Parts: sequence; C-alpha cells; structure tokens
Amino acid sequence: MKKTKQLNNTSVILPAIGQGMGDYPWDENQISVLREGIDLGMNLIDTAENYDNGNSETIIGKAIKGIREKVIICTKFAPEHNSYNDVLTAVEGSLKRLKTDYIDIYQMHWPNPKIPFKKTMEAMEKLVCQGKIKYIGLSNLYLEQIKEVQKALDKNKIYSFQIEYNFFDRFIENNILPYCEKEKIITIAYSPLDQGRIIPEDNDKLKIFEKIAEKYNKTIAQIALNWLIAHPVVIAIPTANRKYIKENAGAADFEISKEDFNKISDLYNAKPSYIQVDKIEVSAEGQSNRMVYKTIEQAIENKLNFVPSPNDLAQYFKNNLNEEIKPVRLIKGEGDKYQLVEGRVRYWAWVIAHNGEKPITAYIRKKL
Ligand SMILES: NC(=O)c1ccc[n+]([C@@H]2O[C@H](COP(=O)([O-])OP(=O)(O)OC[C@H]3O[C@@H](n4cnc5c(N)ncnc54)[C@H](OP(=O)(O)O)[C@@H]3O)[C@@H](O)[C@H]2O)c1
Repeated sequence: MKKTKQLNNTSVILPAIGQGMGDYPWDENQISVLREGIDLGMNLIDTAENYDNGNSETIIGKAIKGIREKVIICTKFAPEHNSYNDVLTAVEGSLKRLKTDYIDIYQMHWPNPKIPFKKTMEAMEKLVCQGKIKYIGLSNLYLEQIKEVQKALDKNKIYSFQIEYNFFDRFIENNILPYCEKEKIITIAYSPLDQGRIIPEDNDKLKIFEKIAEKYNKTIAQIALNWLIAHPVVIAIPTANRKYIKENAGAADFEISKEDFNKISDLYNAKPSYIQVDKIEVSAEGQSNRMVYKTIEQAIENKLNFVPSPNDLAQYFKNNLNEEIKPVRLIKGEGDKYQLVEGRVRYWAWVIAHNGEKPITAYIRKKL
C-alpha cells in the first residue's frame, strides 16, 4: 500500500513520493522513466517553466500523452514573471509545452520584492476562475511571506508550499512546517536526498543508519524519503532517474516506527552555526549556475540580474529583523575560513543588510 496525502479538503489524492523534473538537461529517454514512475504510483510530477529552458515541461508533455487525468502536474513561473500580465502569459507557455489545458498546482517559484504579492495573486485567482490552473502553490518563501500571500488571496487559499527539506537542512521545522501542518498546506520537500548527499559524513552515524535500513530491508535513500513523508503534510519529489525509479517508489510502501523516526531525527540534528561573514569566501563550487559575486560591490550592482537581487533581499531582512533566515551552506576551508557553496544571494543580502558586521547562520559540511 503506497502512502498518499490528501490535498486539503479536496478529492485530490497526492502520492507521498512524486517525481522531480528539475533543472537538468533532459532528453526523450526520460519519457519512459516518467511513465514507469507513474505506473509505480509516483503520479505527481514537479517542473518549472525555466527548467532546462522549458524542455523539462516539453518532455513531461510527451510523457503524459493519453494519461493526462492520471497525473498531477505541478509547475512554476519564474520570479521575473510575477507581475499580473506576465503570470497570465507564462501560464500559456507552460500549458503549450505540457500539451494540456490545465495545470493542477501552479506555483510561484520565488518572491520578487519589486512586485507585490497582491498583483501576482490576482493573476493566479483569474487563472483558477478560467480553469487553467486548479490549485495555488508557493515556493521559497519565509513564514511571514506565506502569511502575506494568504492575506492577498481573495477567494482562494494556498494548497501547497515547496521548499528544501532533507536530513541536513531542517530549517522549516522551526516555524514553517508547524504552520503548514496547522493550515493543512501540503509541504513539497525539494532536494529530499540533499542532492545525493544524504550519507552521513560521520562513520558512527552511518552505522546506526545502516542498521535501521537493514531492519526494514530498505536502502538509506528509502529511509531518508520515508522519514520525510512520515511528517503529516510532507510529500517528497526526488529527481526522476532511471537508476533510482523503483527504489524511490519503494520508499512509500512502508512506515518506520515512531522509535526509529525519533532515532533518525536525533541522528541528524545538526544545528546551524553562526559564522562571521568575513571568514567566508564565496565559491563557485556546488552552484549549478557557476557565476557568483565575489565582492559586495558586485552583489549590489547585480549584473547577473538575480531575482530577488541581494539588495532587495537585504531590504526584506532589514524589515523582518526577528525572522530567522534559512542557513547558507559552507564547507570548512583552511584555518578558520569557510567556502560558501549554497545561498549566495542570501549571503550577500545578509552582508548588505548588516554592513558585514553580523554573523550569518550556516550549515557546515566537511566536503561538497
Ligand atoms: N522549488 C525550487 O526552488 C526547487 C529547487 C531545487 C529542486 N526542486 C525540485 O526538486 C526536485 C529534486 O531536487 P534535487 O534534484 O535538487 O535533489 P534530490 O532529488 O535530493 O537529488 C537528486 C540527486 O541525488 C542523487 N541520488 C541518490 N540517490 C537517489 C535516489 N534514490 N533517487 C534520486 N536521486 C538520487 C542523484 O545523483 P547521482 O545521479 O549522481 O547519483 C541525483 O542527481 C527537482 O527535480 C525539482 O523538481 C525545486
């Protein structure tokens, strides 16, 4: 029996494990992978208009031909398209590439501080009214922003929230996950396997983990996914990959005991550290987009047009001083130095907001 979750007060049943079609180069070989995943019960597929320049949606469109109603499609529009008119245009592009006339869950991928949520949500509500999208979803927001979006909605509500969640990054457990549980917002965990880095770096921890996996006759990845979906509103979307498709489907057909759930939670309880920003060097390693800002001047200039820009995000941090920010990710370097491998915009925004004087919250790894 595969684990499923109900989309709040609707008749829509979501698989607890779906398929991610993230920003990787895709080709037609992926069609049969997605089909197999759907047959194995992973009939929710996550994508975005800009993943592989639209090719992710195009491949999905081919994979769902003839079985559209069996599949739950979750796509997203880019923050450059958060304005009222741009949302209405972006959806047409997605519908065309997906070769469908409706999207099940349409998600705002990132906030764009230049565009008020009200404007974006007016477009979303119009799309619901037109039947082009069924449910409104969000991604990559802080709690106060989620609440703000909720207030900006007139006739609709937020059905899902997509965010990074895995053993290593448990930031959402502070306040976002409890809020989503209270509001029955499906929480879609992205990078659920920490992009393939879930194996503990510490050998003693690894042994305990292996023992638990052995007990259930499952792999570590399956235990990692099962631990995530043991949380009431959480579903996980590991990237769909021929190598792992059966393994991932097999993560939803068992339940770890409460005792093992707690044991795993304690095993991965890395609390973020606070690191002086001048000890951190911004590295291009680990970023899919290898262009990074090396200096505060470059970050302020924002020549790479990141949305939100470091400056805009800095403003948000200044206005919400009490809100804990998502930790950046560092690797231990020489002496007391660190390399920043994830969270470059967040890092520069923090430096700008606090004039380089306040330590930043960070998860630290030994290696990439
Ligand atoms: N909303 C957002 O901003 C956002 C951001 C990122 C991702 N996402 C979504 O989340 C999905 C998943 O995220 P992700 O790709 O970052 O992370 P992930 O699924 O945690 O990691 C995928 C990587 O983990 C490795 N891996 C190890 N065991 C695996 C297994 N059993 N199944 C699949 N992969 C396994 C694979 O590497 P090897 O092939 O090298 O072994 C693979 O490249 C994406 O496809 C996308 O739809 C959304």
